[in-house]
Amino acid sequence: MGTFGHEIYDVVGIGFGPSNLSLAIALEEHRANESARPVTAAFFERQPAFGWHRNMLLPSTTMQISFLKDLATFRNPVSRFGFISYLHASGRLAQFVNAQDFFPTRQEFHQYLEWAESSVTDRVSYGSAVTSIRPPQGTAARDAKHLEIEVEDVASGATRLVKARNVTVSTGLVPRMPQGIERDERVWHSSEFLEKFNRMHAAGLGSVAVVGAGQSAAEITRFLYDTLPHARVSAILPAYGYSVADDTPFANQVFDPGAVDEYYFGTDRAREAFWRYHRNTNYSVVDDEVIRDLYRRSYEEEVRGGRRLYFRNLTRVDQVKRSGDETRVFLRSLLDDGVRELDVDALVFATGYDSPEPSGLLGDLDRYCLRDEAGRHRVGRDYRLVTSPELSCGIYLQGGTEHTHGLTSSLLSNIAIRSGEIADSVIRRRVEHELELERKAALEVARETR
Ligand code: FDA
Ligand code: NAP
Repeated sequence: MGTFGHEIYDVVGIGFGPSNLSLAIALEEHRANESARPVTAAFFERQPAFGWHRNMLLPSTTMQISFLKDLATFRNPVSRFGFISYLHASGRLAQFVNAQDFFPTRQEFHQYLEWAESSVTDRVSYGSAVTSIRPPQGTAARDAKHLEIEVEDVASGATRLVKARNVTVSTGLVPRMPQGIERDERVWHSSEFLEKFNRMHAAGLGSVAVVGAGQSAAEITRFLYDTLPHARVSAILPAYGYSVADDTPFANQVFDPGAVDEYYFGTDRAREAFWRYHRNTNYSVVDDEVIRDLYRRSYEEEVRGGRRLYFRNLTRVDQVKRSGDETRVFLRSLLDDGVRELDVDALVFATGYDSPEPSGLLGDLDRYCLRDEAGRHRVGRDYRLVTSPELSCGIYLQGGTEHTHGLTSSLLSNIAIRSGEIADSVIRRRVEHELELERKAALEVARETR
């Protein structure tokens, strides 16, 4: 665990994925460029070291956004933390340009993130899981000038409290399993894929299956087929076939910074239209290249004869029975509603993610956070949870704001701008607070000298 003092931070960040890394950079650039007092910040991450979806860092997988949608460029095109600065520092700028590709591999983007992290690493405490946010003990939330953040050392279980006037909750997506199905050493969610896969002996994986028709499912199916040349690989698709992710230019505008305003200030009907027409830019869809790779492998098997890649379409998993090393999957076909059994050595659920929900961390503070008619948290345009007026500390969300800010909420597309907006909000509110204190002090002096 890093050592942090007893000061009251302006911001404590919970989780240190790309979102809070981008915020740390925005605050660093504020510190470097402004003569004003720096914003003090500390970040807590439960992983032992920086890592961005490490269990899905499969060979040849590529980014789903342009390299220019990095941690900083859209906010500050001359930032020293942009992807181009990283390429320059790595001595690969010319080679990258020669490749004429907007979409780096996920491996390379991970290296970029690690490179950026190395400049702000002194503000991050790894192996540190935040377990709750609350007002100081014995203080009512309405009187709280700061919040206490309880941090657990993952290795030892020891806890300590950190103080902050604002927190940013950036805890990332939550893996989703079909109801009633438990994960274990042979039943995995895609978010733990490489870790679990690497624990197995390849020779013991004679039959594997992957559930889902999204990007994770297609990438894992391709990886298993290529890595296990002896294995039968079954793709369990809820759809008739994989559908392509729409990243054509007009549709891609839903990820523009301006689309956030249109979504946020738009009517309910406008927001609904974003999802109805453009869900296929991101959810349950696959990059064209990966679809074609898989189809090519399947067709080559037809030409060659001898099949080991199976696509079971219009099929969902009903249940899984586990006993020792045996795993039996019960598959329901939507075509005839019949149930078929499949025995596998490993089963991967690439069944997507849920949005993060801050309530668990907020505990009693959640009472002060206002909700809309559908029971969802109300969130300001500056990503701050709307609270009843007596709670003056700021709780900001990076992620979990699809209902208010739209499709970019869980993605990288807008993190540079979003982090800048959160940093601006923290700074603006600090100035307003200080002006208010000065005004009160002046009134007091005037009263005393009257
Ligand atoms: P992220 O999940 O990256 O980080 C959250 C961090 O918080 C984690 O490190 C976690 O350990 C930590 N944490 C959670 N709870 C904590 C607690 N209580 N205390 C301390 N730490 C805690 N999007 C995109 O735009 N382009 C892309 O190419 C991709 N590619 C992609 C690949 C894969 C495999 C997935 C699953 C997702 C993507 N995404 C994506 C979407 C993805 O959400 C996005 O890339 C970022 O991970 C979002 O960054 P965050 O920092 O918000 O979350
Ligand atoms: P996803 O897009 O939500 O896809 C989940 C899939 O699982 C859907 O096809 C879903 O079908 C299916 N499913 C859910 N429950 C099922 C069940 N019981 N039986 C059968 N199928 C079921 O999730 P994802 O593929 O993990 O992608 C999540 C995010 O990560 C996306 O933003 C994606 O772009 C990103 N990602 C990026 C990369 C990369 O950058 N290279 C790699 C992987 C993921 P329904 O449609 O019927 O619900």
